[in-house]
Amino acid sequence: MILVTGATGNVGRHVVTQLLEAGEKVRAISRDPGTAGLPDGVEVLEGDLRRPETLPAALRDVDRAYLFPVHGALDDFLTAAGDEGVGRIVLLSSMAVNFEQTNDIARWHAECERSVRDSGLPWTFLRPGAFMANDLGWAGMIRHGGVVRAAYGDAASAPIDERDIAEVAVRALLDDGHVGEAYTLTGPASLTQTDRVRILGEVLGRELRFEELTPERAREEMAAFMPAGVAEVLVRLLASASGTTAEIEPAFERITGRAGGTYARWVARRAADFR
Ligand SMILES: NC(=O)c1ccc[n+]([C@@H]2O[C@H](COP(=O)([O-])OP(=O)(O)OC[C@H]3O[C@@H](n4cnc5c(N)ncnc54)[C@H](OP(=O)(O)O)[C@@H]3O)[C@@H](O)[C@H]2O)c1
Repeated sequence: MILVTGATGNVGRHVVTQLLEAGEKVRAISRDPGTAGLPDGVEVLEGDLRRPETLPAALRDVDRAYLFPVHGALDDFLTAAGDEGVGRIVLLSSMAVNFEQTNDIARWHAECERSVRDSGLPWTFLRPGAFMANDLGWAGMIRHGGVVRAAYGDAASAPIDERDIAEVAVRALLDDGHVGEAYTLTGPASLTQTDRVRILGEVLGRELRFEELTPERAREEMAAFMPAGVAEVLVRLLASASGTTAEIEPAFERITGRAGGTYARWVARRAADFR
């Protein structure tokens, strides 16, 4: 039995689907199973990493787990997993841990990795860079007017399709040879924010425009729907990526034997979210 935490998330949903397609027995936890909307064939239990009493039932008969990084809440899960004899943990981490840990995002993920390492359980770390799914945050602006407002239009990243992150998670859960590995994962192309708005317009068949905000304004607008500290870090990351070309990491292709999905393919799959 494979346990998927974070199963209702962008990555976790694909982990569940791909494991079912591979014929595996899958259990998922959600804090609200009633609204989880997971496919038939997966056992869904109520589970909350911040409520340790929910974990023994979630972990019963589990031999491998995909672990979502709930900061500060992994130790109880890992202890319960050790008690149950779980033999493999695949942790969703972040590329941020590769860099100087001067921001909260990097620190939180490094602490999650440390918890997993210290648990003594066999692990694989997935360290993705920016998710393509982050651009769903533009969907409202695209639906209502077609102007994407953000800071640093020339900031480059190599965003990865969340389905591809899940594919690596599934390989690490099912195949040998991934224990003790930390995989930095990017998409196949360096794209600026204005490149992504252009591709969105092409695929959606819409006239879209990027409008440059000052960093201060962008921070204010982002802080309306995320903690101010996270908005601050994200604007700083955009500033440091301004005018650069993002590096493309080889791990995805090496592990799966194919090129990562393009941004255009992702937009086509998610088109309904932008219409
Ligand atoms: N976005 C990026 O560019 C980026 C880049 C690198 C790394 N990351 C990492 O990826 C994460 C986002 O992954 P995602 O997009 O797949 O997820 P997501 O869509 O943000 O969904 C969050 C998931 O976490 C689960 N969750 C939250 N609190 C929980 C708790 N206390 N106990 C159990 N489950 C809990 C939620 O489950 P329920 O609501 O069903 O309980 C949900 O499935 C980030 O938090 C970061 O760690 C993101």
